[in-house]
Amino acid sequence: MSLHNEITRRRTFAIVSHPDAGKTTLTEKLLLYGGAVQMAGSVTSRKKERATVSDWLEIERKRGISVSSTILHFDYNGFRINLLDTPGHNDFSEDTYRVLTAVDSVIMVIDGGKGIEQQTLKLFEVCGKRKIPIITFINKMDRPSRDTLSLLDEIEKVLHIIPYPVNIPLGNGNEFKGIWDRRTKIAHLFERTPGGAFRAPVKTCGLVDQLVQDILSESTYRTVCDELEMIEHVGESLDIENIANGTMTPVFFGSAVNNFGVELLLDGFLEFSPPPQPRQSTDVTVEPESDFFSGFVFKIQANLDPKHRDRMSFIRIVSGKFTRDMPVFHTRTGKKLRLSNSNSLFGCERISVDEAWPGDVIGFVGGEFLNIGDTLCEKPGIVYREVPRFAPECFAYLHNPEPSNYKRFQKGLEQLVQEGLVHIFTKKNSPDKNVLLGAVGPLQFDLVQFRLESEYGAVSRIETTEWKIIHWLDTKPIEATQLSLPHKSTLVQDCNGRSAILFERDWQVRHFCENNPSIVLFDNFYNDKVPDVSVAQK
Ligand code: G4P
Repeated sequence: MSLHNEITRRRTFAIVSHPDAGKTTLTEKLLLYGGAVQMAGSVTSRKKERATVSDWLEIERKRGISVSSTILHFDYNGFRINLLDTPGHNDFSEDTYRVLTAVDSVIMVIDGGKGIEQQTLKLFEVCGKRKIPIITFINKMDRPSRDTLSLLDEIEKVLHIIPYPVNIPLGNGNEFKGIWDRRTKIAHLFERTPGGAFRAPVKTCGLVDQLVQDILSESTYRTVCDELEMIEHVGESLDIENIANGTMTPVFFGSAVNNFGVELLLDGFLEFSPPPQPRQSTDVTVEPESDFFSGFVFKIQANLDPKHRDRMSFIRIVSGKFTRDMPVFHTRTGKKLRLSNSNSLFGCERISVDEAWPGDVIGFVGGEFLNIGDTLCEKPGIVYREVPRFAPECFAYLHNPEPSNYKRFQKGLEQLVQEGLVHIFTKKNSPDKNVLLGAVGPLQFDLVQFRLESEYGAVSRIETTEWKIIHWLDTKPIEATQLSLPHKSTLVQDCNGRSAILFERDWQVRHFCENNPSIVLFDNFYNDKVPDVSVAQK
């Protein structure tokens, strides 16, 4: 197949949601409908220690949440679908953001009973900034839900994006019997299957068909007709361009656990989501159809699978065809390397990959020098600036209670820092030998401890601190004596030797600025190679 055909048949996306809205369940069900698994492992069985395909890391199984992202892919109706799982816990916005740099669209799952929750809002903002097309799935319609119009209204008012309901639910809660597809004017009536393990049988008919009127109560039927009339009269018409630029979202309703509406969502998703999109290099836009391979590292993870204790860098292909063993430039260092140990992934399974195309994600084993955000390209000079780093919002000391374990402790910690799981800081001229960690959310500290112990055999102890705000100074090292530091704030250095100050409260930052008028504080500090993204703040 030609490069053009391979690109147009690819869809690379992520599912995002507030925890518990049904992201994991929907992932399973898309795999079921995509034919990638025969029977969906229900979330209930996950609780009985059978992980879902995407939810495999041990800590995830123990806690029943997704903390690290996985890559899944399947073929459906001639399309190659790459699904990048995002962590569901709101602690992990940094990792989530990185995944969003590697996708071309997202499916946003909303709980129909709860509407837009805090994390949905946060994720929507991130998608908005990246102008990613968003396809909305309003889930759990089998439970008592908010009414259809108010859910659509909320999307418009709270998220400032125009909803286009592709379908509407026929009832909700116990009365949820099916879905009305507005464009085909077909009602899809579902039958429940035990545990939702198999595809739900569907009957189709018109809205005025006796079958629909029999299956719905009189009042539900009337409500559906009223809602529909309202939507047809006042709703916006479908605008593909606005969907592509993220200002309109096609909305689908359903119940993932019962498989209701999943197939309609999948088919609609393929229609509305774009194929692999171009990415911006320093001064050029690189089109997927360019005749050279290029991509960027958006995630690094070691010990992905206990059977393979190695380090994998996940590369999103931006342009050209990838072939195993091809020589590429590592733009940051100018080194040339061969991508010989390349893999495609399906959950925790890895299969070696000989060729891949724009939109695909390959896992490259080895490459200890690769960092998150690095560009790999067949020709020199291409630098993608897709992957930012976020400032930590919590800080903790990590103690090693067993000095005899020092080497293992150190090795594990170095690896986890390279993966971007946590930031590491040292307190300048301090006799304090303990490691100071910074993370976007406190769950990352648990994950560090868990992984140090399970993967490196190093037990550790966490001591949380009150610092919540970090601001960097300019790049040259600064002595604490040169500054007037507010009480309880402290001067630290990051792993690149840059000075930063940790504060507990906003007023301390203001106090610092007043007492040190010549010092400029920075909100964030990205790695050396992308210096201009730092936001200067007075
Ligand atoms: P997440 O990844 O977004 O965190 O959510 P997840 O899929 O784990 O689902 C969270 C809970 O919501 C699960 O229940 C799951 O069964 C339930 N759920 C998902 N989709 C639907 C749906 O369409 N309808 C209903 N009624 N529930 C749904 P749980 O309490 O964790 O487990 P369980 O005992 O219900 O299986």
